[in-house]
Amino acid sequence: MKDLISIKDLKIEEIEEILKKSDEMESHLKQNKSLDIMKGKILATLFFEPSTRTRLSFTSAMQRLGGNVIGFEAVESLSVAKGENLTDTIKTVEKYSDIIVIRHPKEGTARYVAEISSKPVINAGDGSNQHPSQTLLDLYSIKKLKGRIEGLNITLLGDLKHARVMKPLAYALAMFKANLTFVAPPGLEFSKELTNEIKEKFNARIIQTNDILSGFSNADVVYACRIQKERFADQYEAEKLQKSFKITPEIIEKAKDDMILLHALPKVGELDSAIDETKHAKYFEQAAYGIPVRMAILSMVI
Ligand code: CP
Repeated sequence: MKDLISIKDLKIEEIEEILKKSDEMESHLKQNKSLDIMKGKILATLFFEPSTRTRLSFTSAMQRLGGNVIGFEAVESLSVAKGENLTDTIKTVEKYSDIIVIRHPKEGTARYVAEISSKPVINAGDGSNQHPSQTLLDLYSIKKLKGRIEGLNITLLGDLKHARVMKPLAYALAMFKANLTFVAPPGLEFSKELTNEIKEKFNARIIQTNDILSGFSNADVVYACRIQKERFADQYEAEKLQKSFKITPEIIEKAKDDMILLHALPKVGELDSAIDETKHAKYFEQAAYGIPVRMAILSMVI
């Protein structure tokens, strides 16, 4: 694997290999073993959109592998602010680094950067399109917390139209033969193209609804996401949806006893904070799995 741009570029065997490598990385971390496989290598983190988990966990993963990281805190500090184009930025950054991780608001940017860069490129999110390292850590989290993916009832819930974590996850879960329920507020459902694609390719069993409660009734895993306010032209509409689409402790009480609740984070009000204290809330464990999974990804692209 040279680049990681879209989950659709990976075969199931390749995903399984990354998950196996992630497990090895987690063992190394637990044993406090030092790994120097990135010694002398430099990772460039180019985040043209905000990030806490993805940028910091790639940084932490690279440092735990013995490598170094360069990047910037704010887009305003780059020469892009003086009008430099992305192509020139990348042609420069590739001279300074060995791997490039990029997040950009425009769909397709990571693919373009991979085409023009001689160095491996990892897509850390391109608009509403893909966020493959997140998908891999989501699959890893489900396998670690539930022991398997195949045959589980998994609900994806929230702003499915705009969330870049949800489209590749739906695709990957269908590939792994999970039974899927999609819950979204009216107008924020997955596109017909995506649902038809995964039905046709993987013979996926899919239920679609706008009702939050029915998404919880038989679920082994519920994966929630926030309303992606930054992708709305009408901020008033986004705020209205944010207020109306909430998961409460009363809804959680109706779920199966061993249901786990995942979320890519950040959460901004769609989950009542009292839920953090329940046995179902696993999103901070999920965020922690970002380290071994990203260590595995870095070791496999170089
Ligand atoms: N899950 C995720 O992508 O979080 P950040 O936006 O904080 O990186």
